[in-house]
Amino acid sequence: MPASAALDQVVTLFESMYGDAPTVIASAPGRVNLIGEHLDYNSGPVLPLAIERRVWVAVGAAHGFTMVSSATGGAPIRRAEGFIEGNWSDYVMGVVQELRKIGVGMAGAQLAVVSDIEQGAGLSSSAALTVASAAAFGQLAGQELSHDALTDIAFRAEHDYVGVRCGRMDQTIVAHAVEGTAMLLDTATGAITTSPFPHEVWILPTGITHALADGGYNARRRECEEALQRCRERWPGLQSLAALDLVMLAEAAALLPPTLFQRARHVVTEVDRTWRAERALENGDLEEVGRLLVASHESLKTDFESTVTEADFLVELAVGRGAFGARLTGAGWGGSVVMLAPARREGEIVKGACTAFAQRFGRMPAAWGTRASGGVRVDFAA
Ligand code: GLA
Repeated sequence: MPASAALDQVVTLFESMYGDAPTVIASAPGRVNLIGEHLDYNSGPVLPLAIERRVWVAVGAAHGFTMVSSATGGAPIRRAEGFIEGNWSDYVMGVVQELRKIGVGMAGAQLAVVSDIEQGAGLSSSAALTVASAAAFGQLAGQELSHDALTDIAFRAEHDYVGVRCGRMDQTIVAHAVEGTAMLLDTATGAITTSPFPHEVWILPTGITHALADGGYNARRRECEEALQRCRERWPGLQSLAALDLVMLAEAAALLPPTLFQRARHVVTEVDRTWRAERALENGDLEEVGRLLVASHESLKTDFESTVTEADFLVELAVGRGAFGARLTGAGWGGSVVMLAPARREGEIVKGACTAFAQRFGRMPAAWGTRASGGVRVDFAA
């Protein structure tokens, strides 16, 4: 949605709920991960970009915490502190708690949230919410927080407070993104490199929403940890699963139970694909990037077992119609497929793929295109 429309909408929502104008409005984008899936908690490289859809958070000082969202609708949620309620307000309270830890205290705040990032679509609506809330609260308290500080606060809010054992990819890209670029984040060192990304990518939602706090994500993380522990019996100094090379991986086949070996093989081959994708992007070789996306999807499907039939089908349809490549992006078990296709053929490929999908699954994916957008920003401060 255009920035001006989103700003109008969040101001209107805030005023209609609280009878007053907001003091600060901040916004942050969602993200799409091009490649490097399930690597950020294995100390590997990831290659995300920020999307053009955002979460907008309007805040004003108050006693106690009250929040309302256009995405969920309904009456404002009044929050007590210190426990989990099991809804989106937990993410905001996680931010409040983490800010307190670094000396940014608030007696309370009123919030209104407007978002055009679909929840559960694998596009990091939660990182957009936590990073934008942290920026808005910081500004309200008269503190300009660095992108690194915003990343940390948002990460700990989701990881420690809400209890999703996520890595740091989403919060990092959402806070640090530079318009027109993709980000290579090496999670082994925290080093960030930006590469020009003038291309359009397409988001093809599977229509299957995933909830991160339960289900396969935390289970995969445990499996990766177990695989690492077992590998350390053979290589005691091994820092992470991502530090295994292809020769060690071949040896690990005899050390690991079959399922753990599959998880490790996804990680090791995905590390290789991600570095190669970064080089291909720098060389403008989108065909190679596309091949790597498809190989990544295949690895998620057969080794990591985190895809869904709907995503497998969309990838096959898109590639069959001439896309450079496509893959399931984000945590998996639903969410969206990201597709890269030759400019000017994208429309026809997307239409063909979505029509064939509708014939099989009885619903038309609401596909949309995006370019690489900028990260968090304060849009208004009174
Ligand atoms: C989710 C998590 C990220 C990352 C991806 C998988 O988006 O929040 O930290 O692990 O899944 O790559």
